[in-house]
This record gives sequence, C-alpha cells and structure tokens, in this order.
Amino acid sequence: MKVLLIGSGGREHALAWKLAQSPRLTTLFASPGNPGIAEHAQLIELDAEDQAAVVAFCRDESIDLVVVGPEAPLVAGLADTLRAAGVTVFGPSAAAAQLEGSKGFTKDLCARYDIPTGAYRRFSNAAEAKAYVEREGAPIVVKADGLAAGKGVTVAMTVHEALVAIDDCFDGAFGSAGAEVVVEAFLDGEEASFFCLSDGRTALALATAQDHKRVGDGDTGPNTGGMGAYSPAPVMTPEMVERTMKEIIEPTIRGMADSGYPFSGVFFAGLMITAKGPELIEYNVRFGDPECQVLMMRLKSDLLELLHAAATATLDQVSAEWSDDVALTVVMAAKGYPGTYEKGTPIGTLPPAGDGEKIFHAGTALRDGQLVATGGRVLNVTATGSSVAEAQASAYRLAAKVDWENGFCRSDIGWQAVAREQR
Ligand SMILES: Nc1ncnc2c1ncn2[C@@H]1O[C@H](COP(=O)(O)OP(=O)(O)O)[C@@H](O)[C@H]1O
Ligand SMILES: [Mg+2]
Repeated sequence: MKVLLIGSGGREHALAWKLAQSPRLTTLFASPGNPGIAEHAQLIELDAEDQAAVVAFCRDESIDLVVVGPEAPLVAGLADTLRAAGVTVFGPSAAAAQLEGSKGFTKDLCARYDIPTGAYRRFSNAAEAKAYVEREGAPIVVKADGLAAGKGVTVAMTVHEALVAIDDCFDGAFGSAGAEVVVEAFLDGEEASFFCLSDGRTALALATAQDHKRVGDGDTGPNTGGMGAYSPAPVMTPEMVERTMKEIIEPTIRGMADSGYPFSGVFFAGLMITAKGPELIEYNVRFGDPECQVLMMRLKSDLLELLHAAATATLDQVSAEWSDDVALTVVMAAKGYPGTYEKGTPIGTLPPAGDGEKIFHAGTALRDGQLVATGGRVLNVTATGSSVAEAQASAYRLAAKVDWENGFCRSDIGWQAVAREQR
C-alpha cells in the first residue's frame, strides 16, 4: 500500500516509524515531515490547507491511504474532500471533528446520550455566563468553545478567576474560538487518556496513557503541549476501561451515527476518574502528542492494517495486541518554552538508541547537514521497561546523552506512577 502521512511532529514521527514496519507498506510519503520522519518516508511539500493539491497528489501517486496526524486539517474538512474524491483516509469528517472543534457540541452530545461528564451551560455573552458562575460558585471551569491550542481552559479556584476568564474569552483572547463559552462543573479525580479507533460503527480499544502538561517539575508552571507521557495509565484498570467503552465510547459512536455524522478515526478521550467512575473531560479526534509516541512503542500489531480498517469500515475484522511493558517519553524542549525561545540552535549527533528505546523528532530541521531545533518541543526521548520506574530510568539515561546546549526537559516524568509502584 502507498500511504501519505500529513504532519511534522513527534506524533507523526512515531506513526511513520510504526507504519514503516508494516509488511503491507510499499511507499510512505510524508508532508511536510521532519528529519526523523525522513528516515522512514519520502518527504514532499504539500500545503494541507490546499485540499485540491492534496487530492491531486493522491491521484497522481495512486495513494491507498491518507493518515492525517493533526486536528486542524480535519476540522477544516480535509478528510471530506479526500473521501469525496474517492481517496481512502484515516480521520473524521469536519462534522465529526466538531467533537474536538467545539466543546459545546460534545457537551450537548453527552447530555443527549447520557454520557457521564461535568454539568455545564453554554453562553454567547459575558453577562449571562458571569451570572451563572456567581450562582454556582468555585471551583468551576471556564472553556472557550473552539480550538485554542490548549490555552482556552481555566480551572478557576475562585469566582473572581472565573469572571476574569469569561471576560478574556469574550474580549477575544482566543479569537473566534472564544465567541462562545462553556462553563462546567469542576471534576475531582485523577486524569487519564483513553485511545480507541472507530470506523463509524465498531469500536476498537487501543491503550491508555497519562501526560504531564505543566512545564516544571512537580507539575508546576505554565501549561505546554505536553512535557512527557507514559502508557499504560495505572488508574485505567481493566474495569475502568470496560466502563469507559460502555458508558462513554459506545454511546458516542451511536450518537454520532444517529446525528448523521458517523465518526471514523481515533477517539482520544480525556477522562477524569472520579469517585463515581470515568467522566469525559473532552474528546480529541487525533492521536495525542506525546501520547502517540508511547502508544506506538507498545503496539505489537500492524498499525497500517488497523488504520486502514478504521478508514474502510472493517474494524470488526482486526484486533490490536499490546506489549505489557511500560513506555515513557521525555520531551526535550528549547530553553524558554512555552514562552519565547531561540530557534535554530544546533543539536549534536543523537546518541544511538538501544533495544526498546527511540528518540522521536518533533521541531527539528537539517541545515547544511547540521541538526537544529526549530520548534518549542524538539525531541521525544522514549524508552520501555517492565515498570514505570525502569522505563523512566532508561529514558533519562538516554536523554542525558543528548548533546543540545539550548535544550531542557523535566526530570520527573511519570512521578505519580512511580510513587504508586513503590506503595
Ligand atoms: N471539568 C473539569 N474539572 C476539572 N478539571 C478540568 C475540567 N475540565 C478541564 N479540566 C482541566 O483542564 C485541562 C484542559 O481542559 P480540556 O477540556 O482538556 O481542554 P484543552 O485540552 O482543549 O485545553 C484538562 O486536562 C484538565 O486538567
Ligand atoms: Mg485536553
């Protein structure tokens, strides 16, 4: 099969690495890709916003499957355009991608299908949202409705904080994403991510993960795109996985199909495991970054077969096998991230990765043969082990050998899970 992968992050490097292991793969193209992805794929220059150009490339090259990594092209309808042109694509339609593109859309679906989630209201003006917050009190959560690059949510511990967040949204801090606001009840518990494929009718559970969003050790400091992750999530016991499938995923698949926009692609469910059980915080409609990296380390099955089955409504004919090992990834970022940081700083030759180890590229480029950092999050140093502690030790041993003066990483990825193992 000839495959086109859209994207350029650590997530796409992990997908490319795994797709390249498939005996069914003949050629892998990636656009725009990065130097890590280039080890497994032929890089091409396609503008994902120019959907006609993507279609033309797929026709010219007889592409058998397009895999869309990030959410923006999905929300913009790239999968619809490809399907309309007869190209097989892994990823939801724009209508189905509203599950990620609009928090209010997802909350309404939860309400209609009895999916456990925090009580909420949607608002299109500040005065009514504020009156609601005053009535409900804190802690309370204020969310810009649309895509806000992970910055649109305020978990407000005081009413004042929530009121400020409401003003920020309606004053345009998140552009059109904040034109509508969701205010929802604060959920108390441990967070986990759950990944599941869907072809519109059938669900195939993948695996679980937990990530670290804050930039600093001990989960302090500003939010980032993610500083590290591990899989599986210890809090996601087989019972919790079963409940998540029954109470959250299955009604979502039914609800989306009933509403006229069957969901095909990957569900990335953000969950809060509360005293009552799993509750939905949000859906993303693509793999997580860096969660994808740890998932791919543990996947024993053929990724191409799984994604192709999701894209062709044949998920009931495949199954996914996972290693019992833990995988853990440490994100190396440019000093200053998530604030301003220098671009183009040199990275020395990467250390060789041993068995069960892999360094994925995110924001890197090759300039005259020299590897340089071009983004905030730059490398994902990943390792496996029979425990979180073991995977953590291996990942940090490898990270210590990376020669990048302007880089930094957290020193405690996986700390809660390690503490749990030691109890
Ligand atoms: N109802 C809630 N109760 C407690 N914490 C929440 C709630 N909703 C969101 N959060 C916290 O805020 C983070 C971001 O919210 P989320 O809905 O995932 O938005 P996004 O990922 O789009 O920024 C979550 O990972 C979680 O830590
Ligand atoms: Mg989230």
